[in-house]
Amino acid sequence: MSDIENILHEDRSFPPSAEFASQARIGDIETYRRMYAESIADPEAFFGRVARELPWIEPFTEVLDWSNAPFARWFGGGTLNASAVCLDQHVEAGRGERVAIRWEGEPGDTREFTYAELHAEVQRFANVLLDRGVKKGDRVAIYMPMVPELAMACLACARIGAIHSVVFGGFSANALRERIEDGGCTAVITADGGWRRGKVLPLKPAVDEAVEGIDAVHTVLVVRRTENDVAWNPRDVWYHEAVKSAAAVCAPEPMDSEDTLFILYTSGSTGRPKGIQHTTAGYLLHTYLTTKYVFDVRDDDVFWCTADVGWITGHSYIVYGPLANGCTQVMYEGAPNAPHTGRFWELVQKYGVTIFYTAPTAIRTFMRWGDDVPAGYDLSSLRLLGTVGEPINPEAWMWYREHIGGDRCPIVDTWWQTETGGHMLTPLPGCIPTKPGSCTVPFFGVDAAIVDENGVELPANHGGLLVIRKPWPSMLRGLWGDPERYRETYWSKFGSMYFAGDGARRDVDGYFWIMGRVDDVLNVSGHRLSTMEVESALVAHPAVVEAAVVARPDEVTGEAVVAFVTPVANIEVGDELAQVLREYVAKEIGAIAKPADIRFTEALPKTRSGKIMRRLLRDVAAGRESTGDTSTIEDLSVLAKLRGEN
Ligand code: PRX
Repeated sequence: MSDIENILHEDRSFPPSAEFASQARIGDIETYRRMYAESIADPEAFFGRVARELPWIEPFTEVLDWSNAPFARWFGGGTLNASAVCLDQHVEAGRGERVAIRWEGEPGDTREFTYAELHAEVQRFANVLLDRGVKKGDRVAIYMPMVPELAMACLACARIGAIHSVVFGGFSANALRERIEDGGCTAVITADGGWRRGKVLPLKPAVDEAVEGIDAVHTVLVVRRTENDVAWNPRDVWYHEAVKSAAAVCAPEPMDSEDTLFILYTSGSTGRPKGIQHTTAGYLLHTYLTTKYVFDVRDDDVFWCTADVGWITGHSYIVYGPLANGCTQVMYEGAPNAPHTGRFWELVQKYGVTIFYTAPTAIRTFMRWGDDVPAGYDLSSLRLLGTVGEPINPEAWMWYREHIGGDRCPIVDTWWQTETGGHMLTPLPGCIPTKPGSCTVPFFGVDAAIVDENGVELPANHGGLLVIRKPWPSMLRGLWGDPERYRETYWSKFGSMYFAGDGARRDVDGYFWIMGRVDDVLNVSGHRLSTMEVESALVAHPAVVEAAVVARPDEVTGEAVVAFVTPVANIEVGDELAQVLREYVAKEIGAIAKPADIRFTEALPKTRSGKIMRRLLRDVAAGRESTGDTSTIEDLSVLAKLRGEN
């Protein structure tokens, strides 16, 4: 049975245990219903009240201004500082001795920071940035391995009001350069390298290449991690040297609620990545609230989100959400199979992790590695599991529940996006019975619906488009430097509703089931890529005339990239060229974008008006018969050839 059919027939339901529910922040469904109803009927009262849990410098005077929709303003008149929310409030409340981060490097080296220590480190880091001339409103690119300095760098930017733009360390020099230029960054924070699968992944050479000729970048601050040799340029500064003379006191800059906290680039349906803009108060409130209610955090929890801070999941559930809640968390630098496939479970056992949050791709990989791997570790500390990033197939969900969660831990399957800032559709673990494969119900303030192409709400069990009908605090406020594209991408289709780009259905219990993207966005291992981004990379290669990229289902990565390539005349096609093109895409974008398959073809199937028929290519890539209409295809022999018929 296909996954979709599996999901359609899924009727298992798992309520939380009485023990879990009795200790949860929200342990009965009536409380959820009441709070949710209020958050929708009167969002200003609801969010106005819960927002008072944040430590404001100046209180807000207005909750929401939607008069200039789709540009929302939340908590107008208020000022606060994200680093003070994450650090100072805990230290001031006498919780400075609590451990904030237990970090482990891939080779097994460890570091630990209490809230008081992290507070001091972040202030030093902020002073280093100030000494280098970084000012409020400046953009700072961060391109780092998963070391504590990555979280510190984000918080140090926030402390002085600089806007961070984290670029995942797996992206190429070209991708980094594009993001530095688009954001107008004036400083870059990086490291000599990081450990990945037993090897040093050098980062500095990519930065050197990325900033070459960009005079606006006055500083490249380099954290020493792996001690590999690095080339040195006049604007480079070693962090460990600069920090020696930096004071451990740096007052937090009062930031307006709507001041931009960060930009994070993600793929859309065109070739150019979008700089998603998040603001200070709304984003912090939502990440704080979801960490509190969805992860149900308590003082004795040890939280571990396995994402990289280079993605939104790491921003929201490593840096801001857990620290705003004063959590103790684990942060791990490396790969799940370095040096052995039990690495994650070893860490869960060693640190007594109680809440574990990862991606379906990782779970499917663990399944492949075998049940005996997690069985070799004591995972009894776990009490709650989470997933994010892509639809989870019920089989993987059940495996996760049984082999990691010991049939005891609730699973929160959280649907959200870079754009939404935090969880949108998700169970609250103490009160929402879960169903394998469903992200269940909306979080407070999230008015989600399934509509048809005309924006008309569909009845239960009809597949359609997922929309959000009301603004919510952590919604993106725009695309950096391109307000029109923001309006066009998310709001033009249905006017007053946010269009998420996902297909979904809602069952008779009101549970949401995500079917995947309906646009040209691919989801490979939970990472977003645009077909056009990969196509642009391919056609930039001299051997390629034309390329079309589609996704095919993959058992481990969810989707895999398949590229149909028309080569230049008289070139030898085969594995060698395919390998060259794969490496080329990795160099242009990053290793995550490498096509799994490259198929050479003399021509691509096109409509008479010249549009590539991706639907047909998707069928070919998945090895399916095309059931759809092929009457508009320009030359049917092209399709026959692609299918291997003649
Ligand atoms: O298609 C949805 C999928 O990931 C997309 C968002 O990707 P990104 O902005 O990179 O954020 C990923 C981490 C939040 C969505 O449009 N997606 C995310 N979470 C889920 C999901 N699909 C199904 N179930 C989920 N829990």
